[in-house]
Amino acid sequence: MIRVLVINGPNINMLGIREPDIYGHKDYKALVEYIQDFAEENDIKVECFQSNHEGAIIDKIQSALGKFDGIIINPAAYTHTSIAILDAMKAIALPSVEVHLSDVYTRESFRQVSYAGMACIKTIAGKGFDGYKEALLVLKDHLSKD
Ligand code: DQA
Repeated sequence: MIRVLVINGPNINMLGIREPDIYGHKDYKALVEYIQDFAEENDIKVECFQSNHEGAIIDKIQSALGKFDGIIINPAAYTHTSIAILDAMKAIALPSVEVHLSDVYTRESFRQVSYAGMACIKTIAGKGFDGYKEALLVLKDHLSKD
C-alpha cells in the first residue's frame, strides 16, 4: 500500500468561512474526510497535515523521508513566497503533486509564481476538493511505475 502525506498550508483550516465564492462552503474537516474516504477506496494510506506556519510545514516535509512514498501539497499563500518549502521538497526528493482549490492561473499576478510547484511532477488547480482525488491517482500511477 502506498503512503501519501497531504500537506495544506495557511488558512486552509478556514475553509467554509474564508472567501466562499472562491473556496466553497465546505470546511477543512470535510476536506480531510473526503481525502481519507477516497484514499481508503483506492488502497492508499494517507495522513493529512495542516499548518499556518512555514517552519512547521518544512519540519513535516523533512520528516516524511522514509515514512511516506509521496506528497500532495497545497502550500496556500506560501506557494508564491517560500523558497524554503521548495528547498525542503528538493532535499527529500519524494514524488510530489501540487494542488490548489482555486484556479490560481486566472487570479492575481502575484499568484502566478509557484516555488513548491518547481519540485512537483504535476500541478492541479481550480478543481476544488476533486483536485486532491486526482493528485492521489497521479501519485498512485507514478509510484506503480517505480
Ligand atoms: C490556494 C491559492 C493560493 O493563492 C492562496 O493563497 C491560498 C489557497 C488554493 O488552494 O487555491 O491560500 O493555494
